[in-house]
Amino acid sequence: MTIIVEQHNHGAEVEEKKIDSAGDDLLLNSRVVVTKSAVNDGFVVPGNNAFGHSFRDYDAESERKKIVQELYRLSHINQTYGFVKRMRETYKKLDRVEMSIWECCELLNDVVDDSDPDLDEPQIEHLLQTAEAIRKDYPNEDWLHLTGLIHDLGKVLLLPSFGGLPQWAVVGDTFPLGCAFDESNVHYEFFKGNPDYKNPAYNTKLGVYTEGCGLENVVMSWGHDDYMYLVAKENKTTLPPAGLFIIRYHSFYALHKAGAYEYLMNEEDVENLKWLQIFNKYDLYSKSKVKIDVEKVEPYYQSLIQKYFPPKLRW
Ligand SMILES: [Fe+2]
Ligand SMILES: [Fe+2]
Repeated sequence: MTIIVEQHNHGAEVEEKKIDSAGDDLLLNSRVVVTKSAVNDGFVVPGNNAFGHSFRDYDAESERKKIVQELYRLSHINQTYGFVKRMRETYKKLDRVEMSIWECCELLNDVVDDSDPDLDEPQIEHLLQTAEAIRKDYPNEDWLHLTGLIHDLGKVLLLPSFGGLPQWAVVGDTFPLGCAFDESNVHYEFFKGNPDYKNPAYNTKLGVYTEGCGLENVVMSWGHDDYMYLVAKENKTTLPPAGLFIIRYHSFYALHKAGAYEYLMNEEDVENLKWLQIFNKYDLYSKSKVKIDVEKVEPYYQSLIQKYFPPKLRW
């Protein structure tokens, strides 16, 4: 059984309708499908984000609209196959900072994500809101709680000590390079200014890839997802593959929301995608004015960090 929650843009009313369930959790623009347990366990999908607009509403007239649009223009022009290869090589060295996961959570507090039309609060709030909401609905999946806590830590790339990358190279939806850009990508029109758009090596459906090659072989646009994946992997996390998959592809909305690029996935990706779709609901809808008592929940998350990560990581 699945419950569809119809979202309304005005006011916080939420209408629930019961239907027969056939598939996985699915996220659409104005309609959210959530599992029954999620609703019963108290995860209430709010109607509006912190600015009073519906979530991921890129057309809403808001102060942030122009900032978000400019970020995608720069991202879609500058994120090329060559650029991403260079960034991965540079950051794979992990020679900048040594610190614990929790220290990084605190460090991230100074960062505001320009790409996000829903969020205007310190990042640690978002991290803990996401983790706590997941913990409530999936109490036994402690790896998923920790994944919620750390999924955005890669945004430290914005800070000077991590290279001070521009917002377009850190945040926003991610997309594959080395093959044609799919029209379901947000602000697709800006890709026309990307040199790869006219490059015959990269602008066919498969480009440099083969059907079913697996996402791990696909070069994704550079940002906080891929960076945090590299940090976790190179520091030998014991998180399960689904946790790493979530970290690496949580901004790949064309895949997990629109179902594009499926021809690049292998069987393992298909399995992991189910967890990502569950996760995304919490990533998106925990961006609300829910206050978390950081001191109260810290010991629990410290114990998870100890379980899945070394005390200090190379960044
Ligand atoms: Fe993110
Ligand atoms: Fe997030």
